[in-house]
This record gives sequence, C-alpha cells and structure tokens, in this order.
Amino acid sequence: MCGIVGYVGRAQGSPDGAQPHGHSALDVLLEGLRRLEYRGYDSAGVAVLTDNGVESRKKAGKLSNLEAELKEHPLPESMTGIGHTRWATHGGPTDRNAHPHVVAGGSLAVIHNGIIENFAEHKAQLIADGVEFLSETDTEVAAALLAKVYETEAKGDLTKALQLTSQRLEGAFTLLAIHKDHPGVVVASRRNSPLVIGLGEGENFLGSDVSGFIDFTKRAVELEQDQVVTITPESFEITDFAGNAAEGKEFTVSWDAAAAEKDGFPSFMEKEIHDQPEAVLQTLLGRSDIEGRLTLDEMRIDPEELKKIDKIIVLACGTSAYAGHVAKYAIETWCRIPTEVELAHEFRYREPIITPTTLVVSLSQSGETMDTLMAVRYAKEQGARTMAICNTNGSTIPRESDAVLYTHAGPEIAVASTKAFLAQIVAAYLLGLYLAQLRGNKFQGEIKDILADLGKIPAKIQQILDGDSAIKELARSMKDAESVLFLGRHVGFPVALEGALKLKEIAYIHAEGFAAGELKHGPIALIEEGQPVFVVVPSPRGRDSLHSKVVSNIQEIRARGARTFVIAEEGDEAVKAYAEQVFSIPETQPLLAPLLAIVPLQIFAAELAGAKGYDVDQPRNLAKSVTVE
Ligand code: G6P
Repeated sequence: MCGIVGYVGRAQGSPDGAQPHGHSALDVLLEGLRRLEYRGYDSAGVAVLTDNGVESRKKAGKLSNLEAELKEHPLPESMTGIGHTRWATHGGPTDRNAHPHVVAGGSLAVIHNGIIENFAEHKAQLIADGVEFLSETDTEVAAALLAKVYETEAKGDLTKALQLTSQRLEGAFTLLAIHKDHPGVVVASRRNSPLVIGLGEGENFLGSDVSGFIDFTKRAVELEQDQVVTITPESFEITDFAGNAAEGKEFTVSWDAAAAEKDGFPSFMEKEIHDQPEAVLQTLLGRSDIEGRLTLDEMRIDPEELKKIDKIIVLACGTSAYAGHVAKYAIETWCRIPTEVELAHEFRYREPIITPTTLVVSLSQSGETMDTLMAVRYAKEQGARTMAICNTNGSTIPRESDAVLYTHAGPEIAVASTKAFLAQIVAAYLLGLYLAQLRGNKFQGEIKDILADLGKIPAKIQQILDGDSAIKELARSMKDAESVLFLGRHVGFPVALEGALKLKEIAYIHAEGFAAGELKHGPIALIEEGQPVFVVVPSPRGRDSLHSKVVSNIQEIRARGARTFVIAEEGDEAVKAYAEQVFSIPETQPLLAPLLAIVPLQIFAAELAGAKGYDVDQPRNLAKSVTVE
C-alpha cells in the first residue's frame, strides 16, 4: 500500500525548441507524496534525473523527514523524477529499505508498491551473478533484475527491459523506473497494484491514484492489469507485458483534491471498506514456496517447538478481538489445538495458565495498543511463545514478540476498523493452516483447497460491494432507529458482535450482538413491535441443524414483531419467507463466510452514520490507537 508518483516535464532547450513547462520535478513529486501519504508513512524518497545521472534522497519516517534532508542536501533542478512513500512489507522501516533503490552504478532508480512473491529465487540468481544487495527489500531485487535485463536482452531499451522483467515477477507490483540514458522518460508497469496516468500540457504524470497529481491535472488514464506505460512530456504509450500496443481510456476526475485522497468516497472508512478485496489479496500473497507449501515470513519460532504447542491463547481488544473469535473456530477445526480468545486487558489479572507449550497470538492493527502490549509482555514473562498478527511493520508488539505475521491491509485511517479486521482473519487462517501443515492435521491437498477458496474471497467481496445499493437504502431509512440487535451462530456470532460494534462506534446507536442460541435465555425479552434485528444465517450447505435452528430463531423474533434483516448465502430459499429483507452473500466454505458476511454490516453502519451527519472517520470519544491502559 505504498504511494507512488512519477513526473516528466519539458526541459529547456528540448529538441522541438518548445518552452519549458512550469514545474520542477521535485515540486510535483513532493506535492504528490504529500497527498499520497495516507497510503504509508514509514519512509519517503525521491530520485531525479540530472546531468550527472540519477540522484536520490530518502529517509525513514514521515515526508517531513525527507523534506528536512532535501533542505540540508538539495537536489539539482530536474524535469524527470519518481517519488515514493512507503508502507513497509519486506524489510523494516529504515533509511536503507526506503525507496527509490538506485542500482547499476547509479544509472537506474526504481520504486515499487506491492509484494513480489518470487523475489527469493531471483535474488539467489542475482547474487550468483555477483550482485550485492544493500537492503532487505524485494524491490531492490526487482531493480537489479531490471538492470540486468536492460543491459542484456533489452540492449538498452528501457521499456522493453521493464516488459521482460515484469513477465518474470510474480505477486503484486507497481514499478516505476528512470534511467540516466533516458532523460524525459519514466517507465512503469503494474500487476495487482494500482497505477494511473495523469495527462498535462507538455508534461505527464503517474500516481498510485489520482491524488498523486490532482493539483496539476484532472485528465487521467487508468492502466489495466499487466500493462507497461512509457511517459514523456508529450506522449504516453501503453503495452502489455509482451510488448503489444494497448489503448488507454481517458477520464476526467470530478473530485476536488481532498476527496481524491479518499478515492472519491465521502470518508476513509467507506474507502477502506472498498479496499478490502485488495487487503485480503495482499495478505494472502507470498505465503507459499515453490512446492505450494505455506511458509510464513518472520516465523521465528522453531517448527519443532510449534509442533509441541498444546494451547493457543489469542489476545486482542475491540474489533481485533472479534477477529480472534472468528479465528478460534478455524484454528480448532483445522489444527485440533484448544484455542482461547481473551480481551487483553482482562487476561493478566486472572492468573491465566501459561506453560512453555502455550502459544500466545496477539492481534493488533496498530501494534501499539497498550492493553495488548502489556498482556503480551506478561505472557512472555510466564514463559509462553508469542506471535503477533499485526498491520504495522516495525511497531512495538511485533518487535517484542517471538514471531510475527504481518497483514498487508495498508494504513487504516478511519477509527472504526474494517479492512484490518478482514486481513487479521485471513492471517489467523494462514497461521491455522500453517500449524495444520506442520503437525500433519491436514493433507497438503486439503490445505491447498482452502487456500484456493481464500483466493476467491476478494472477487466475492467485490461482488457484495458492487451490489450495495439495497443495504445503503435500508441504512438511510433507519437513521432514527434507537436500537438495533444482531444475531449469529457459530462463526456468525462474532460477525454479529462486530456488526453491533460498528454501529455503536460510528452511529452512536444502541446495538447488541447475541449468539442466536442464547436468544431464548434472555435477549428475546427485548423484542417488541418494530425492533430491527439483523440475523447472520449460516450456509444451508453447512451443518444442517445449524441453519434450520437459526431459521427458527428468525421465526421466533418475527412472531414477536421484530423487523428481520437477514444476511444469507445466495440461493438460500428457506430464509426468504421470514425475512423483511435478505442481503445475499456469495457461497464459500462455512468457516470463510465471516469474510463476506461482515461487509454488508460495515456498509450499513457507515451509511447510517453518514446519513445522521456524523464524522464517520473520527467518532466521538474514540481513538484509533489506544496507547494507555
Ligand atoms: C481502539 C480502536 C478500535 C480497535 C482497537 C484495537 O479501541 O478504536 O477500532 O479495534 O483499538 O486496536 P488494535 O490496533 O490493537 O487492533
């Protein structure tokens, strides 16, 4: 989820004698990076072409650190450059790992967004060729490969070199490059990561999204999957990775600069809900070796030790704790290891039973929640092995844990968590499958099948997002509701809890989530005429009894006057008769269904809060990261 910007302007004394265009590359790059900083702020860097070749400055931390560096060590005027703001994935957030990566004796600079899955095999080959690497990043490997292809097969043709290099890279990438022998040219390619071209007069731009150049032009062209583009001040040429010419479709950006950072959505939360297909995809990327076996990066616990684990305790707060509750069902089913989920702030005050064969897994988007950190420290002191599932590279909780599994959801700006929740569930599933593989609880083929079904989740989320008008309409019609209840069973229970939390957090409506089976033990007393109730229904293809019991629950509350809104699998005919409205989600394995079922509830909460005129991103009394106990 890094931010990327590229620029070419018309230089003084260009061959056509045209006047220089008014921007210096550095001004454009810094303005673009400022607008893209929401995509990551672990480091920032720029590279420009000068008479002496490529010159670059980069610095860990926010853009302001780079600006201070540029004041101290200014760059010469230039009309060609690239800039990057980083969300660290491979390699910690350091100066050295910051982009651009300048290779080939200072001739070539490359920036990258995404995860290159097969970087290890290329790196081994390049090291055998004598290349020395300065950083821990997959990006430097792509840069070195590009430099090699440029010199050999492409014979100095920069566009061709990028086409050939892109063919050999797997995973997700947007790559931008400049080369000292190609003044006035920026080349770029994309697969599974975004890239947009901005069209100016005598100047052209590239950006991760239009906010990278919105201050300079509103004319844009979106690149398709697996394409390469070469921009000069006067032209842009698009090809596929094989070099066949392609057409780009121009559009005009109708948003203002502030809306552009949110991709045109009214709030970051709505944007982040729409980022979820990508967040799931990125979190799944790069987790298998050549033979298709799961490998988890930064799993610093000896596999022999992991085989002996006889208890897992998941620690988290807020939404992350609900992700933990979902994970428990999958981990226990797949690995047969007893798994407890506990709110981090409750955990250490009850003398929990921890042994050296206990694995404590913390879930934290920020990696800085004080309650969770303290619980992890306590677990460590008691001799447990600790593992962090975290969205923020280099934050405190993963630093202090024995192992880490990063979610790659990108920065989450809205206080109410959405895409990090989904990414945490995916990461916890990967952990469950990894343990099952290690301990032989599941055959490799079964693990592959589950991974394949996980791989289909992004498209299914997209399907829900594309058909969100009915849930939005319902949300607007319910803006005066005083109380909304949520029911679920099995993995649908934590989904109901999370659906209720979203509504409390941002719409300030009293909302409760219940286990559907618990209804008759108390909560049903709350049902009166007109009470809205969302019911998360398990798949009819799963355990038969579970589905029919939840359908009976719907009948029970309907009979007492409740308005029933049902989240059910496509084709579930049985629920229709009892629901005021059904919101369908695509079919998937029952254990994976929470990744889909929560999406309509997130949309509902965001739309309702917006309809009430509330600040969706910064709800009252809450903070994104709670760093006090
Ligand atoms: C705060 C936020 C919640 C979040 C919780 C845990 O309460 O408002 O949205 O779920 O912290 O945060 P973490 O960063 O540890 O996942």
